[in-house]
Amino acid sequence: TRVAILYGGRSAEHDVSRLSAANVLKAIDRTRYEIVPIAISRDGRWLLQGSSVGDAAGAPVSEDGLEVALLPGGKGRLVSRDGTQADPVDVVFPVLHGPFGEDGSVQGYAEVADVAYVGCGILASAAAMDKDVAKRLMREAGLAVARSVTLHRNDVSSFQEIAGALGLPFFAKPARQGSSFGVSKVDDRDGFQQAIETAFRYDGKVLIEEFVEGREIECSVLQRADGTLTVSLPGEIIPAGKHGFYTYEAKYLDADGAVVKVPADVPAAVADRARDMARQAFQALGCEAMARVDFFLRADGSLLVNEVNTLPGFTDISMYAKALAASGIGYSQTIDVLIEHALA
Ligand code: DAL
Ligand code: MG
Repeated sequence: TRVAILYGGRSAEHDVSRLSAANVLKAIDRTRYEIVPIAISRDGRWLLQGSSVGDAAGAPVSEDGLEVALLPGGKGRLVSRDGTQADPVDVVFPVLHGPFGEDGSVQGYAEVADVAYVGCGILASAAAMDKDVAKRLMREAGLAVARSVTLHRNDVSSFQEIAGALGLPFFAKPARQGSSFGVSKVDDRDGFQQAIETAFRYDGKVLIEEFVEGREIECSVLQRADGTLTVSLPGEIIPAGKHGFYTYEAKYLDADGAVVKVPADVPAAVADRARDMARQAFQALGCEAMARVDFFLRADGSLLVNEVNTLPGFTDISMYAKALAASGIGYSQTIDVLIEHALA
């Protein structure tokens, strides 16, 4: 089975994707699969790479790689600009985060190419990427989510009204972005202007969300080819002191920025409820194959769904594989299940 591993890409999460891909390239069973690493440059070109898994910066993005494209209707045939054809691939594994990878666009491209791909389909990918749409669907399914207000670029927004409705502090987030890019915590009017400018730099739609005092816990969901779901025990992200919340810096740049604890130290009843809600969120968004469902756990024991990630991080610090491993499904096996699901 020839597996194209896609990584890098046009989103702000390019570097995170390279870290994820390095781990996938390390963990994937090379006796079962023939790997075709394809790095996507920041400007969106697909470059065939050699077999190296990369370095501390993650999987390699070498400009020497042959520039290729998936042929529409080509069942995995790859063609290069000058017309040479590489061997077709059987399945595409988008190890891509954020817009142009996690949002349904690459999934749509694979559909057009008529090739199997790992992970959620177009609709679930797009719905989960958009925090505004995802919350509507989850609310509709009866899941608790944080209160929020959605702003479009030219909307008139009043700090006073928002603070009145949501209280202080609150968060401003680009609607379609990952890894906390463009997210700010707002404490006052000055902070508000700056926060929405920052968020609008990443997206024309911004979510203003109430601050939820609570712990961050996450469950991994893995679906087998026969449709059955495995929902992991929850893990916990414990941000370390100087980062006010789980920022990009705390996640990826600061070695002591946060601790990932698996399983989370929570009462069994809370763990059960988180797993139930993770399953419901997965279904509410129409997910397939995999997702990581992130929650806030409040002091009174109640849970809110924060977001659903359809292509969760596979970096060293990432929860997805760790939580499944704690539930008895190792990294290579997770990849096997995902590829079997894609090919089913
Ligand atoms: N968006 C990052 C990769 C995550 O959710 O893990
Ligand atoms: Mg995310």
